[in-house]
Amino acid sequence: MSENLSENIIEVKNVKKIYRMGKEKICALDEVSFTIQKGEFCCLYGVSGSGKSTLLNLMAGIEKITSGQIIIKGKHIHMMGEKSLAKFRQDTLGFVFQSYNLMNQMTALENVELPLIFKHVTTKRRKKMARDMLIQVGLGPRLRHKPREMSGGQQQRVGIARAFVGKPEIVFADEPTGNLDSKTSKEVMDLIRGIAKDNNQTIVMVTHDRRLAEYADKIIHILDGNIEGIEIKEEKDSSISIQEEDVANETESEAVLS
Ligand SMILES: Nc1ncnc2c1ncn2[C@@H]1O[C@H](COP(=O)(O)OP(=O)(O)O)[C@@H](O)[C@H]1O
Ligand SMILES: [Mg+2]
Repeated sequence: MSENLSENIIEVKNVKKIYRMGKEKICALDEVSFTIQKGEFCCLYGVSGSGKSTLLNLMAGIEKITSGQIIIKGKHIHMMGEKSLAKFRQDTLGFVFQSYNLMNQMTALENVELPLIFKHVTTKRRKKMARDMLIQVGLGPRLRHKPREMSGGQQQRVGIARAFVGKPEIVFADEPTGNLDSKTSKEVMDLIRGIAKDNNQTIVMVTHDRRLAEYADKIIHILDGNIEGIEIKEEKDSSISIQEEDVANETESEAVLS
């Protein structure tokens, strides 16, 4: 168990990302390094424009790094070809989006079945898996509803069911509660954390909201494309140790420590 917990499932080494806009270069990430352990809930936390989504998209293989290394489950994903990367993402990763990204013409059940179709799961089996997953997120009575017939919170529950139905080892979530009120946000966060902890799944979540960052085991503070500091919460006594001392916003750290 403890061996499993200390396994680095994601390693980010000296990662740089430069966007070119005509002649202008924008350095979105500057030599960023950190690790995420299997089963950890990790949060990339920082103000808008700090580079959080860029970092998430690089880890998910959606965008290409300029230099450095990203190693997931021992595989250098930046070296993979399109085909093997697509397969790797299908087998290993799940995604939750701020704007849900559901198929509007499909029912909740059909939306959750989608990733299983890509994985060639048989019809009968995938209908059962999708239904069970929707029941687990509290949408048993909404299986035949389409996205427009559901509230934002319900739509995001469908999004969560879709992300988790294939039991991916890692789930990436970019501002998953960005369009939700605070009560619904809390419910959605509890749901994501609960499912992930039950199955020892790794979560990497982006947020600019300190209250949401509190759900994480590890909070990576990002500012201007750099890591300002990393907070790690000990699970047993929920005490907090600051790995790097240069966390800029003291009031925030104090709030966590109190
Ligand atoms: N596709 C892109 N092309 C050019 N610049 C981009 C692109 N995506 C992001 N950026 C720039 O990179 C920086 C980081 O953006 P982003 O990762 O979206 O920040 P965050 O998610 O923390 O709000 C910003 O300055 C942004 O304008
Ligand atoms: Mg963003």
